[in-house]
Amino acid sequence: MIKLLYIKASPRPDSKSVALADACLAALKARAPNLSVDILDVWREKLPVFDGDKVDAKMSVVTGRRHDRRQRTAWSEITAIANRFIAADIYLFAVPMWNGGIPYRLKHYIDLIHQPGLLFGLEPSTGYFGLLKNKKAIIALTSGAYSPTAPSPAYGVDHHSTYLRSWLNQAGVTDIEEIRFQPTLLNPDPDGSHKAAIAAASHVGVVS
Ligand SMILES: Cc1cc2nc3c(=O)[nH]c(=O)nc-3n(C[C@H](O)[C@H](O)[C@H](O)COP(=O)(O)O)c2cc1C
Repeated sequence: MIKLLYIKASPRPDSKSVALADACLAALKARAPNLSVDILDVWREKLPVFDGDKVDAKMSVVTGRRHDRRQRTAWSEITAIANRFIAADIYLFAVPMWNGGIPYRLKHYIDLIHQPGLLFGLEPSTGYFGLLKNKKAIIALTSGAYSPTAPSPAYGVDHHSTYLRSWLNQAGVTDIEEIRFQPTLLNPDPDGSHKAAIAAASHVGVVS
């Protein structure tokens, strides 16, 4: 059984990025009938506040201190959320660009799960190292004005795919494929381009 975690980061019912990821998922399912799919919509999921207790619990792990009672409670909540992520073999993300970066609900989710001893370690002399092994990520990316083929600061800067990649890399996920439909708005043929991106999405992701 291959476990895929599908993380939806657009709140739109007619989301372009979700349409790309859906097409990719349908093709993956057809190629790998042993795929089990867990869907995590960051807009519907109850994400606890990353409060002072959780920050303290995180910093205690980083600095090698024991958790007190409040931190133990906070850390067990974090661990439960992170374990769902850790359990997956493949990550499929649908992520629109928001203000140059990712939607805040996805950042909230990442802040909850990206934890020392769970997703990464930190070695003072060599830096961060990822704890996730043998994972694959597929990221479906959309933006209204920003174009990766003709990038210009006048249309924004990509802190969207670059952030997702560097976060995943830091967690140990280096096998990353992208599906892009950009730009979605400043596009002479939005429908045709979206259809072409959906068709391309069907060929992404080799599952063995
Ligand atoms: C809050 C918000 C911020 C956005 N910021 C950007 C941006 O910085 N650059 C850009 O090119 N498009 C931006 N857009 C446009 C979306 O990226 C674009 O409409 C995308 O296709 C939405 O994808 P979706 O249909 O999957 O939600 C923004 C849209 C919203 C709602």
